[in-house]
Amino acid sequence: MLLEGGCGPQLANEWGRFGAGEQNGAVLPSCEVLTVGRPGSGTPGADEPSTNRPVARAARLLRRGGLVAFPTETVYGLGANAFDDDAVGRIFEAKQRPASDPLIVHLAGVEDVDEVVAEWSAAAVLLAGAFWPGPLSLVVPRHERVPSRVTAGGPAVAVRVPAHPVARDLIRAAGVPVAAPSANRFGRISPTTADHVVEELGDRIELVLDAGPTPLGVESTVVDLTGTVPVLRRPGGVTLEDLRSVVPAIEVAHRSVLAPGQAATAPGELLAHYSPATPVVLVEAGDEVLEQLVAAAVSVGIAARRLPLSSDASAAARELYAAMRAADRPGIDLLLAPTVDPEGLGRAVNDRLYRAAHGRVVTDAAPGTVARLGAIAACAPPRES
Ligand code: TXA
Ligand code: MG
Repeated sequence: MLLEGGCGPQLANEWGRFGAGEQNGAVLPSCEVLTVGRPGSGTPGADEPSTNRPVARAARLLRRGGLVAFPTETVYGLGANAFDDDAVGRIFEAKQRPASDPLIVHLAGVEDVDEVVAEWSAAAVLLAGAFWPGPLSLVVPRHERVPSRVTAGGPAVAVRVPAHPVARDLIRAAGVPVAAPSANRFGRISPTTADHVVEELGDRIELVLDAGPTPLGVESTVVDLTGTVPVLRRPGGVTLEDLRSVVPAIEVAHRSVLAPGQAATAPGELLAHYSPATPVVLVEAGDEVLEQLVAAAVSVGIAARRLPLSSDASAAARELYAAMRAADRPGIDLLLAPTVDPEGLGRAVNDRLYRAAHGRVVTDAAPGTVARLGAIAACAPPRES
């Protein structure tokens, strides 16, 4: 467990509270958390500075090279000025993210794409027109002004205009594009509340803007527009059905089975991603089989539990990461996860479950399957803390 980092530059704690993280018995300094109401009236127009004091403070921090976690409609992001190479470098350090994994650049509006994008295709115009602001990231040719660290040295940059009013207010107030991955340590569960962010990164960042749970709960859809045909790289908040209603030719990248260390087109495609410490196994056979498996595993001494998840895809998306976090606790050997109806948001939910399960899928409750569950539980690495 890393004990380095601290809170970075300590700035005046004008309106916030400081928390303290406790790990391995040691109380660590933790970042500032500022509650921010959903901007409504009083939200400034596009060219005005923010009148929302926590947001204005977060924007100042971003301009000075700080790291600020903020809510989006999908999950909380860990933001830095996308034009500040050092600040972007701090994102990778804080998350312990490999330099080979590129970041999404967040913009306040579609009118800002020229700042970071070299070429805006007809498909980009259509998709941005239909789904921005919203949970869609478009991978497009990068403007040379964007530090190559943002794109992991590649020629393409992922851009999106988030719909969450706090995110848009923040980016506008900062006056710079904001590079932001999900605000979790690399490979871990994405945060859907400010508390999750503090748990993951509280000792490594300056500030979290807290606007409550994020409304969608799963990340943005990533569509790659750099090839001859648009490709869905990561299912997310904008459904494939909706994408195809605008650009019918979109292809779906195959559910990849890459292990960590193998080259991935996108880190979100890594097999082991979005993972709790407790091993997860995906049960693609309905609730009855899942319950049989839990009972059979428990009867042979495996502390197996069902991952509680609604069958409705939108509800499941909202609950998913918090449910994984809550279920991931000492004394539990194995989590058995159901799949949801693959229509709509269900595709994104099932994708995250599959990755949380490191690709381990079972389809029956036969004795051999139960034995396999035992082997998976027995092979789990020791917990980090
Ligand atoms: O909803 C979201 O997208 C959240 C919020 C904070 O906006 N962000 C997020 O970022 O999920 P991250 O870094 O956790 O996931 C970004 C995904 C990864 O799968 C990454 O590989 C892909 O987008 N990506 C980013 N830049 C890319 C690029 N230049 N080419 C291909 N894929 C890219
Ligand atoms: Mg992520």
